[in-house]
Amino acid sequence: MTETATETVTVRVPAKVNVQLAVGAARPDGFHDLANVFLAVGLYDEVTVTAADELRVTCAGPDAGQVPLDRTNLAARAALALAGRHGIEAAVHLHIAKDIPVAGGMAGGSADGAGALLACDTLWGTGASRAELLDICAGLGSDVPFSLIGGAALGTGRGEKLTALEVGGTFHWVFAMADRGLSTPAVFREFDRLAEGRAIPAPVASQPLLDALAKGDPEALAAAVSNDLQPAALSLFPELADTLAAGRAAGALAALVSGSGPTTAFLAGDAGSAERVAGVLRASGTCRTVRTAAGPAAGATVI
Ligand code: C5P
Repeated sequence: MTETATETVTVRVPAKVNVQLAVGAARPDGFHDLANVFLAVGLYDEVTVTAADELRVTCAGPDAGQVPLDRTNLAARAALALAGRHGIEAAVHLHIAKDIPVAGGMAGGSADGAGALLACDTLWGTGASRAELLDICAGLGSDVPFSLIGGAALGTGRGEKLTALEVGGTFHWVFAMADRGLSTPAVFREFDRLAEGRAIPAPVASQPLLDALAKGDPEALAAAVSNDLQPAALSLFPELADTLAAGRAAGALAALVSGSGPTTAFLAGDAGSAERVAGVLRASGTCRTVRTAAGPAAGATVI
């Protein structure tokens, strides 16, 4: 990144939906090998970094009360990680304008980590390479590297090893936010409990799904989406089945839990259908809020 004399930097970072989430057996380190096809969608957090006397995090937005403001916040951890590597004091105020649901399975926390990292790199003129930024992201969490690059990508390993994917069109989505969150570790633990005694195949990306993305074909994508964490999320949050059924009945081409949930994602054929599905879901009383967003969206970007 280039040298800068700016005193404030704002970075916009997208949410993600997993169009495929294939989960393998638990590894000795407790993580699971994944074949994780990420699609960035146009719902954004904005992270603003300003020089300050000491590290401080603030957050605004409808879910702000649920966001930790201490050093467990991924934005704070990102600033500390970059500062530590470059012998800089992480004396900054990080402000998160939060629009991505918290604990929703849309990588909101990861977005804030990637956003803070790029913002601090720009503010400090650190000049970190893309590879170094991605390496720091991988240390912060499995989904953080994808938040930096955006677009669409296949994540392998625990999700952090990324291969960018071609996308041949725009996909229109509806997202239904639930009235409580789900903990990602709890959903993986439930996956392990449900899988007990069964042989779990190694996760592989679906070729029909990759082809559908490359063609930009929503019907083909709808036929190929899958999420191995969905049974675990439904087991912990059975009411999500009502939201999925309401979206299907409203004409969504596909309905699935986003990542570890509890946000549910509905693929529509075009922007107009997405608005219609959103309207029916809003009236269904099966969720807290409903948003529409298109993907792919760009990764973390200085604005
Ligand atoms: O990497 P991250 O901190 O986002 O992961 C949160 C938790 O989700 C992990 O502690 C682990 O319980 C679970 N996880 C997993 N396998 C993955 C990614 C996450 O079991 N590939």
